[in-house]
Amino acid sequence: MKRIIVGVTGASGAVLGERFVRHLLNGGHEAHVILSSSGVRVFGEELDAPLGDSFPEIERNFRKRYGNPKRLLVWPADDFAARISSGSAKMDAMVIIPCSLSTVGAIANGVTINLIHRTASVALKEKRPLILVPRESPLSPVHLKNLLYLAEIGVHVVPATTAFYHRPKTIEEMVDFTIGRVFDLLKIEHRLFKRWREVSSAE
Ligand SMILES: Cc1cc2nc3c(=O)[nH]c(=O)nc-3n(C[C@H](O)[C@H](O)[C@H](O)COP(=O)(O)O)c2cc1C
Repeated sequence: MKRIIVGVTGASGAVLGERFVRHLLNGGHEAHVILSSSGVRVFGEELDAPLGDSFPEIERNFRKRYGNPKRLLVWPADDFAARISSGSAKMDAMVIIPCSLSTVGAIANGVTINLIHRTASVALKEKRPLILVPRESPLSPVHLKNLLYLAEIGVHVVPATTAFYHRPKTIEEMVDFTIGRVFDLLKIEHRLFKRWREVSSAE
């Protein structure tokens, strides 16, 4: 079992964060989720799932989506005293999905305004895997410079784009391709998409 911190920001693509958490839990892993305030807003808008205004409401509604499993923990985005805020918390990796370019900018510049930024900064200093799934289009030179800098210091940048060689027919199949590439980086086995020229054992 892996312990993964999951940041969900206010970039478009709430379905990515929603399904990523679902696949982690289905695989028996522990998810520590932080939703930024914009993340809560976009989640409500895009998934027709208002999470609420106060943290207790957000936590309750988010956990309810997954059937309240013990392995799903939700942390307040403004709580710098949360257990996961410290490098002493034993975490395997952090994934920010979807990741706004505002959060990319904060991480690239060492700014910690919320717990997503703080835990990403901890992942960097502890040299733990940090995976960002940014979504924006088009990308400005500022975005590209920040992403390049982060890639150069070892951060994995997995754009929120799908491939088409696995012939996706639904939004879920498109989203699961991106999530599968993140699982590959986390070294988590999965069957989220059919690999290029993959031949199943039955064939
Ligand atoms: C519906 C909606 C969609 C958005 N989509 C994006 C997006 O795709 N990428 C992005 O970088 N920001 C997007 N934004 C803007 C971010 O939410 C905004 O920059 C916010 O400050 C990000 O804060 P956060 O990184 O703390 O969540 C969107 C905002 C809204 C309301």
